[in-house]
Amino acid sequence: MLSSVLFANILLLALSRVSPTAAIPAPAELAHHRQQTVDWQKYVRAPSSTTVSPVSIVSSYTAGSVTNPEGLLTPGGDPTILTRPVPASGATDVVPQIVVDFGQNIVGYLSINFAGASSDTTGLPGIRLAFSESIQYGYLTSVSDFSRSDNAYTWTDNYGCEYGSQVCVDGLHGFRYLRIYLDALSTDSPYTSPYGQVSIDSLTLNYTAFLGTPDTFTGWFQSSDEDLNQWYYDAVYTTDMVTATLDENSIDPRNADSPGMLNRLVLLDGAKRDRLPYSGDLAVSSRTSYLTRNVPEATRNVLTDLADHQRSDGWIPPASINGYTLPLLDYPLWWVRNSYDLLVYTGNTTYFDTSYQTMVNALDTFYPSITDSNTQLITKGVGVSGSYGDYAFLGRTGAVTYYNTLYVLALNNAASIAKFLGGHDDDAARWTARAQTVSDAINSRLFDSAAGAFFDGACGSSPCQTHAQDGNSLSIVSGVANAARAQSILSYMATNMSQPYGNAFYDNDVVGGGFSQRVYAFISYFELEARFLAGSAGTALEEIRRLYGWMAKNDPGITAWEGIGTDGLPYEQGFTSMSHGWSTGIVPALTNYVLGVIPTGPGFSTWSIKPMPGDVQWTQGQVPTPNGEISVSWDNSASFSLSISTPISSSGTVSVPVSSNSVPVYVNATQVWPATQPNSYSPQYTDGYVALQAPGGSITITVGSSG
Ligand SMILES: *[C@@H]1O[C@H](CO)[C@@H](O)[C@H](O)[C@H]1NC(C)=O
Ligand SMILES: *[C@@H]1O[C@H](CO)[C@@H](O)[C@H](O)[C@H]1NC(C)=O
Ligand SMILES: *[C@@H]1O[C@H](CO)[C@@H](O)[C@H](O)[C@H]1NC(C)=O
Ligand SMILES: *[C@@H]1O[C@H](CO)[C@@H](O)[C@H](O)[C@H]1NC(C)=O
Repeated sequence: MLSSVLFANILLLALSRVSPTAAIPAPAELAHHRQQTVDWQKYVRAPSSTTVSPVSIVSSYTAGSVTNPEGLLTPGGDPTILTRPVPASGATDVVPQIVVDFGQNIVGYLSINFAGASSDTTGLPGIRLAFSESIQYGYLTSVSDFSRSDNAYTWTDNYGCEYGSQVCVDGLHGFRYLRIYLDALSTDSPYTSPYGQVSIDSLTLNYTAFLGTPDTFTGWFQSSDEDLNQWYYDAVYTTDMVTATLDENSIDPRNADSPGMLNRLVLLDGAKRDRLPYSGDLAVSSRTSYLTRNVPEATRNVLTDLADHQRSDGWIPPASINGYTLPLLDYPLWWVRNSYDLLVYTGNTTYFDTSYQTMVNALDTFYPSITDSNTQLITKGVGVSGSYGDYAFLGRTGAVTYYNTLYVLALNNAASIAKFLGGHDDDAARWTARAQTVSDAINSRLFDSAAGAFFDGACGSSPCQTHAQDGNSLSIVSGVANAARAQSILSYMATNMSQPYGNAFYDNDVVGGGFSQRVYAFISYFELEARFLAGSAGTALEEIRRLYGWMAKNDPGITAWEGIGTDGLPYEQGFTSMSHGWSTGIVPALTNYVLGVIPTGPGFSTWSIKPMPGDVQWTQGQVPTPNGEISVSWDNSASFSLSISTPISSSGTVSVPVSSNSVPVYVNATQVWPATQPNSYSPQYTDGYVALQAPGGSITITVGSSG
């Protein structure tokens, strides 16, 4: 049992790990302990400055006449020399090349410091560059793994060509590997020649995305699990890679130029492509951003611009691509859900001065226009919806579970927004009632009792014999599925969708070839949420370990992939973005559920703190709020103990896990449960947790013993 002196010490160290069974340490030892445990900075992946050098030469790719390839890695010293003589007739002509490795995916503009070049009658020797995020793509054909001009885009980078339409670059994109070779396109003649000699002193990269050094973190996470810790910071880095100012030279060239977003900070989808913000992607990447970075405008700029381009029938474009016309059915609903997040994470109500009406138009004009009046379900085929796609561009038909469960989530989020802002009681009541109607219809019409999971959609007039991860996960996240159905769905997905690299987004290939092998970390985030919300932290962590473990141990490592395909390879080969913000759900999953902090009111004015340990022994972390940070530290290695520090102006519900409803719970060493007499915490036992109503400030809660 700990003395009250120790409590004082522990509470001074709000961020240190609380260990109720340890012997009472002297204050100096406590300080030492804190230093040992709060060292998350070591996991941070950001370069230390915007000037980045490559870390190594991939020697197996060095070819032709190359002298001193390592010379490229450091300025000064002997240069690297590539030589390619004009071949004598019949002699072999080997293109000299070097592949450099920046050690991790990176994005920015490259500078090459040349030390000299030959000049002969054929012209100046050409240096060509090919960029690639992973080593297996981009080298067979000597061009980048993805290039805008290879994808039939009309490319107008101002930095593009040095001479008219000759000697061109192909625009900024993320990469890890760079192939440098002495060669020239015949179409670049007479400006460059494939022959001669070039000396290079060094290479550096001017990093152009958010430079996420440790001092820039407004929130952080650390636990007893080294892998979870590293993957959390890997995912933060992935979102940093797509946090950038939208500039004319690097934007997706498919008619996506948007004055409302240009030159503003935004969250792009990927660092390599498409380099364009999408409202669906923000459903995950904005949470990662809010939880770790003080750049709410990166989300707000996107949501505001998309709202400014709302169609007269209430539909909200998913992105500026194709002049704001890309027809997606789900993204306007993600826009509503993202507006809810903007309010609860950042507390910004001014945003709703104009965006509130955008939300009304989407929910009260557009979605009713594609609702089947017999079933009350959004139905692909009604109104304009027939040709509309979604995050995976799926040609689904009929009453699709995913669209309808997401609709329920968006309606309930909108009702919460209406209540938080005040003065919109009619809207809140209408949306809540409609959410219930749609929820009832989903349950009565779309459930496959034989499988124990929701059908995906219709094939003709009957249900397709296939089940999708998106709708089933969202049925739990949105509260459509009751507890029994939730358990059945989670078990179905574990059995029928599991892959060594995550859970697939379909259980079979009825809708598309290879779908039962394809894993999207994006939509998997909602399955992770579903598992935590259903009280299954163990299976959520197990899925996290397969999914994020796979991406961490396969090239390029560190950054989270857009999609994983058959055999765990990038799902669209070299085209796949290997640094995609929508795949960073491990950050909100660990913060919201394992650490346990969720906003329940605008700007965290109210919150829920409910740790879900699974097999994690201890966790500590910080969550930024507009009124100061929330700090949480819990330890489950012996009995459970939790220290929290929250803004004084806030309040919330704090829940601690108990093995039964008779286990005592103490606040600051005073027993509050089982309540011998009524107390201000109004404790309640539900499903293995004792929930307390807590004011802002610092408290320590211990389970089983007073400390
Ligand atoms: C790096 O790029 C930024 C624009 O992203 C520019 O402002 C800066 O001057 C560049 N720095 C160097 C050293 O080229
Ligand atoms: C809230 O959002 C609006 C734009 O909708 C912006 O002008 C304003 O600066 C934001 N307020 C804060 C406190 O960030
Ligand atoms: C789900 O997996 C089980 C076990 O492999 C299999 O028996 C069942 O047919 C699958 N369900 C469907 C609907 O494919
Ligand atoms: C609990 O202890 C902390 C630290 O000593 C103190 O700041 C806080 O006011 C206490 N709260 C209650 C409700 O006793």
